[in-house]
Amino acid sequence: MIRVAVAGAAGKMGATVCAAVEGADDMQLTGRADPALGTTLAQVLPDADVVVDFTRPDTALANALQCVEAGVHVVIGTTGFELEPLRDARGANVFVAPNFAIGAVLMMKFAAEAARHMAKAEVIELHHDQKLDAPSGTAKRTAELMAEASGKPEPPIHSVRLPGLVAHQEVILGDLGQTLTIRHDSIDRASFMPGVLLAVRKVADLPSSPLVGLEHLL
Ligand SMILES: NC(=O)c1ccc[n+]([C@@H]2O[C@H](COP(=O)([O-])OP(=O)(O)OC[C@H]3O[C@@H](n4cnc5c(N)ncnc54)[C@H](O)[C@@H]3O)[C@@H](O)[C@H]2O)c1
Repeated sequence: MIRVAVAGAAGKMGATVCAAVEGADDMQLTGRADPALGTTLAQVLPDADVVVDFTRPDTALANALQCVEAGVHVVIGTTGFELEPLRDARGANVFVAPNFAIGAVLMMKFAAEAARHMAKAEVIELHHDQKLDAPSGTAKRTAELMAEASGKPEPPIHSVRLPGLVAHQEVILGDLGQTLTIRHDSIDRASFMPGVLLAVRKVADLPSSPLVGLEHLL
């Protein structure tokens, strides 16, 4: 049994992760940390093998460092914060994914491949209007992967924030007389759960840490 605590447990993603962990045969939900629940991360760390963090851009780094110092592995879904200070964190593993949905991972892979063959591209990411960071972590990662694959500059990113949306992204590539559009839609937060549970199962045995991107675990 993997003992899992969730940071941001009262949030939209955190609550969905708590339910997914409770539904997994090989996991036990041992803690729900969230200021909204009156429970701190420090309180849940002693009973956890892995912490899953879906909090806020301004707290995810401090949370992750606190986990590693306590020898607890951490799976981070929070986006919009600087990963650099985690490079020297030793004591437990850190896994980060800007997007835990398999369809989004494929969208990034296909976009990187297409960027090698078509002249120019732009990225449009669309999210619910409560999202704190822009552009999204997924869009920034997509742009990086496209630039790495093609040797061209990173494509521009446009951000849309509207009620009714969950998490969506379009990569539009243009060339002589044609365009190609690659689109992914997370229409339910359930889309992220298989990826999150996979990361919880694998975080103790990462080849290196911090490791960024669900593609490394598939
Ligand atoms: N990687 C992915 O696949 C993915 C998917 C969706 C969302 N996200 C990211 O996940 C994060 C959370 O998104 P959300 O929509 O659930 O936000 P949310 O606002 O609904 O939830 C965040 C929760 O974190 C809590 N919190 C704040 N500070 C905390 C702390 N120090 N310790 C513990 N909990 C704390 C808040 O009280 C809140 O309940 C965002 O950064 C978002 O971009 C990532």
